[in-house]
Amino acid sequence: MRNQGKLALLCAAFVAGASITSSVLAHGNVTPQAVDTTTLPEIGEAWLKQNPYRGNAAAAKIGESAYGQNCARCHGLEAESGGIAPDLRYLEVGDTGDEWYIERFQHGSSHDGKVYMPPMGEVLGQKAGWAIRAWLETKHQE
Ligand code: HEC
Repeated sequence: MRNQGKLALLCAAFVAGASITSSVLAHGNVTPQAVDTTTLPEIGEAWLKQNPYRGNAAAAKIGESAYGQNCARCHGLEAESGGIAPDLRYLEVGDTGDEWYIERFQHGSSHDGKVYMPPMGEVLGQKAGWAIRAWLETKHQE
């Protein structure tokens, strides 16, 4: 209970910040953490639109840890959002969801000159992106 209270306070502080990213940056520790994907099948350089690792348990396992290191601070532990960023459990599954997912992963999101989500594609690479997506699909909720 005490921890939940703290968490709620922390979230409120985030929401109150003028820009999500600058308040996150102020905490340091935002450098994307490299993800070791060497054991996963090669998928080439060109960005795919559909997840080549869908249903791949080994990929999902790598994705789970990659998510914890790179996404959880905004999207929530175990993909359960605390409200700072969208809850990724509700992303559409399958090909259409893949396309939307990878677009955001690759380019992030900014509007009105503010970065809401930093681009992840170049730093983490698409193998890590699809591994995270494979894990997210195991957490999907309607
Ligand atoms: C600095 C905080 C932050 C980090 C880190 C972050 N995101 Fe996001 N993400 C956001 C915000 C905020 C939005 C909503 C953007 C908007 O509404 O324009 C978002 C949107 C998304 C969306 C679209 C969701 C939807 O329902 O439309 C996806 C997919 C996504 N993020 C995936 C990821 C993944 C995967 C990672 C880790 C590799 C990640 N994000 C890391 C803040 C973050």
